[in-house]
Amino acid sequence: MRLWGGRFRKKPDEVAHEFTTSLPFDRRLAEHDIAGSIAHARMLGHCQIVTAEEARQLEAGLERVRAGLSSGELELDSASEDIHTEIERLLGAQVGALAGKLHTARSRNDQVALDLRLFLREEIDSLRQGIAALQKTLVDVAERNMEVVLPGYTHLQRAQPVLLAQHLLAYFNMFQRDRERLADCRKRVNVCPLGAAALAGTSFPVAPSFVAEQLGFEGVFANSMDAVSDRDFVLEFLADASVAMVHVSQLSAELVLWSSAEFGFVRLDDAWCTGSSIMPQKRNPDVAELARGKAGRVLGDLVGMLAVAKGLTLSYNRDYQEDKEAVFDAVDTLFGAVEAVREMVATAAFDAERTEGALSKGFLTATEVADYLVRKGLPFREAHGIVGQVVSFCEKQGTAMEDLTIEEWRSFSREFGQDIPEYISPRGAVAAKASPGGTAPARVKEQIAAARKLLKE
Ligand code: ARG
Repeated sequence: MRLWGGRFRKKPDEVAHEFTTSLPFDRRLAEHDIAGSIAHARMLGHCQIVTAEEARQLEAGLERVRAGLSSGELELDSASEDIHTEIERLLGAQVGALAGKLHTARSRNDQVALDLRLFLREEIDSLRQGIAALQKTLVDVAERNMEVVLPGYTHLQRAQPVLLAQHLLAYFNMFQRDRERLADCRKRVNVCPLGAAALAGTSFPVAPSFVAEQLGFEGVFANSMDAVSDRDFVLEFLADASVAMVHVSQLSAELVLWSSAEFGFVRLDDAWCTGSSIMPQKRNPDVAELARGKAGRVLGDLVGMLAVAKGLTLSYNRDYQEDKEAVFDAVDTLFGAVEAVREMVATAAFDAERTEGALSKGFLTATEVADYLVRKGLPFREAHGIVGQVVSFCEKQGTAMEDLTIEEWRSFSREFGQDIPEYISPRGAVAAKASPGGTAPARVKEQIAAARKLLKE
């Protein structure tokens, strides 16, 4: 079946059909297409564009199509051009020629925009829940491991000791922003385009706000040409999904690095690792690697859609059909990666001995020593220079700051006292970072409480 053809003398070429059909992927919109059509049928009745009885029959027929598709009694026919054509064909089998009235005052242009908005609105809600579950896991794992101290890095060089909890809560914050971005995007997704018809509006006395209300939309389009060609909501979603995938990718990269023999900070659960077909000893973090790598797909979805939209003239162009696969792929990839990373983090075993061991070499508390001298009245820059000499001395001797005698300390500055060892212990350094948002246990506990509150909202 085709929704057009009256003016054609030939049937579409088989290859042209294969090339242009969207049914292989837009079948995923079937539920939403039916929901949108039911709202449209009701509106047609409400506005007396069809009779009340006709509207009732159309709705009942659409309900039967919905039930038939979900039970498997009805099947989609791949000869149709798209899901909209196919639903109308199935409706025809239920209500006969009356099905032909459903498309009054509607075009597939406003219809497909509606379907995609309905789809995305629902998926954004699930994605936000999925991300919240990952955030909760991060907070739980942070709280369970409050004793674990590890090197914090800059430039991937050991920098200063931090709590593992502080490190994990950094990711909590990234994912919080991702959820906020998606919530904000949802506002612009949640605008109903139905009633724009092909591009110019319609000569029938339609009520777009009636349809919007039926479908729970917050707003109605303001301009019919914009309504059928606006894909900003798609671009925005793909951008938000890309940022979220970058975060997933970064967390995964840490797990890959930390689970290596060189680091050994974490042992990923067997269920989240795979073996090698040739090296019997191998235990590879493939799930983390894929969660890292799949960010590339979603970034590609975004760039691909930007390239499709760029340079398009108003209003609807068939190019826009490309939006669906990009959106579906981004939704599935992000959802899958968030779920996998959540489980991996939840089941990971952190090795406090290894993280602690990584703190002993590398002068991670050198800043503490400089701060010590500042508290005795030295300008920070001068203190920095003195501690630099201490570090250089230790490196030459092949010792750590912990091994220096008090006499050796005092040879660098008379200000060093008996209490200096307290300041160079990693735990002492962590406890001292009590500035707002710092890694001191008290501050981290505040962050955990605040995070739990955010998750309850
Ligand atoms: N499959 C099409 C799409 O995804 C549906 C809209 C077709 N509209 C048209 N005028 N050919 O965009």
